[in-house]
Amino acid sequence: MKDKAGKPGAGRVLRTRIKKKSGLKESSRRWLERHMNDPYVQRSKAEGFRSRAAYKLIEIDDRHKLLKPGQRVIDLGAAPGGWCQVAATRTRSTDERPLVVGIDYLEMDPIPAVVLLKMDFLEDEAPARLVEALGGDPDVVLSDMAAPTTGHRRTDHLRTMHLCEVAADFAISVLKPGGHFLAKTFQGGTETELLTRLKQHFRSVSHVKPPASRDESVELYLLARDFKGR
Ligand SMILES: C[S@@+](CC[C@H](N)C(=O)[O-])C[C@H]1O[C@@H](n2cnc3c(N)ncnc32)[C@H](O)[C@@H]1O
Repeated sequence: MKDKAGKPGAGRVLRTRIKKKSGLKESSRRWLERHMNDPYVQRSKAEGFRSRAAYKLIEIDDRHKLLKPGQRVIDLGAAPGGWCQVAATRTRSTDERPLVVGIDYLEMDPIPAVVLLKMDFLEDEAPARLVEALGGDPDVVLSDMAAPTTGHRRTDHLRTMHLCEVAADFAISVLKPGGHFLAKTFQGGTETELLTRLKQHFRSVSHVKPPASRDESVELYLLARDFKGR
């Protein structure tokens, strides 16, 4: 079911409620209630995706057609693995010839047809390890990396923006001509310097907010398409 905003299941009437006297902190109770009633969470469980985030990539890719069979993809900040699952399906990656490499410093369960690196992307050797594991330069670099929240909004914002900038530098240094870069950023957060740099290297640069990204979240994605080359 889709509501007016085109979000699946948002029109559901039956809601799971958690009693106020559940012993949970009010903020945790509200988070859990929202999570349990989130149509994307319910759909990800039913469809076998590891995260509701998978639908953000599905919606962006349905619209912008970034992932094609046979392409090589690097996924930065991959855990728990929803984006890797989507990328592996859409590139038709196989265990014999994996076309998707994901990296995260968190432990991840194996994903069919995906090579996973457990390491910090900010480590010096990460870029070379990624390209080596992929067996060639990528056609698409994805980054859903987000810094762990400290509770201090400005600090969290700056840390995630830094990850976005390092991811952009990486994409510019490894992408094949014609390739694409998609990365998490924040509303009002993308530095003019980064946008200018991306516009020099890509034929099209824009911000996208897929329906699966919550309206109340300042999250946004930076989409740079058609890499001109180094
Ligand atoms: C929003 S989650 C990604 C969700 C993922 N796209 C999915 O569909 O399952 C962000 C991830 O970025 C990872 N991350 C943040 N900083 C990182 C870094 N420096 N190196 C590797 N992973 C990082 C976090 O550990 C976290 O798992």
